[in-house]
Amino acid sequence: MIDKRNKRPGKMSGGKPTETRRSRKTPKEDKDNATRMMHHKVKTARGRKISSKLWLERQLNDPYVKEARIKGYRSRAAFKLLELDEKYSLIKKNALVVDLGAAPGGWVQIALKLGAREVIGIDILPVETVAGAKIIEMDFMDDEAPTRLKSMLGDQPDIVLSDLAANTTGHRNTDHLKTVALVEAAAEFAMDVLKPGGHFVTKVFQGGAEETLLNRLKLNFKTVRHAKPKASRAGSPEMYLVAKGFKGKTQKSRH
Ligand SMILES: C[S@@+](CC[C@H](N)C(=O)[O-])C[C@H]1O[C@@H](n2cnc3c(N)ncnc32)[C@H](O)[C@@H]1O
Repeated sequence: MIDKRNKRPGKMSGGKPTETRRSRKTPKEDKDNATRMMHHKVKTARGRKISSKLWLERQLNDPYVKEARIKGYRSRAAFKLLELDEKYSLIKKNALVVDLGAAPGGWVQIALKLGAREVIGIDILPVETVAGAKIIEMDFMDDEAPTRLKSMLGDQPDIVLSDLAANTTGHRNTDHLKTVALVEAAAEFAMDVLKPGGHFVTKVFQGGAEETLLNRLKLNFKTVRHAKPKASRAGSPEMYLVAKGFKGKTQKSRH
């Protein structure tokens, strides 16, 4: 069966889409194709703030959002993991993967597509079921969260992924502290559960990880790199930290 969603718009000729009688499309397909080709401008409706108008406009015109919809990925973030994996060979066949901040499930889909045997994840928000994944709806900062996740693992994971991003309050300092706390908690969890040789990938903000955390990761992993995938918006302060080759029993730094 042909998946009609994967059909691209007809070739352009003289600025107009070509369409023969045999390739006549249903009104639904016409609408989907037109949606993909148009540049959208969103009218500022009464009551809609300029910021949400700009967000909506950016979403509608973002090529990664369009591609994610075509490929059936749940988020544009899926492309960030694909890029990171291509560059750093992160997810091996049969890998046991932990995904922190998993909703809506784009990274879960990619990890499984790359051959993971299972993904264990957590998010405050619900995640629609994905075959091959077990996701709990819980705050990762809850004291019980690490124990709950460990009880679901049954084995040491090959990789811990964290795309955790706190909801911003608009207060710079508060947001920074919330983000740092999430990254630190993710790193501690990774160093608690990873198998020797395992990897840890986390989203970080504002120029990379805090120095103390960076030093701790350098002590415990063979290589630590910062990366900014193309799919990560240029204007966004987010980047990723890729720590490869967990050395095993966690080393504590002296500072
Ligand atoms: C950028 S999104 C993750 C996108 C995901 N990687 C994907 O590809 O679909 C960040 C997620 O972190 C979750 N999050 C933020 N703080 C959290 C916390 N304390 N505990 C659990 N999840 C949290 C948010 O609910 C959000 O779904």
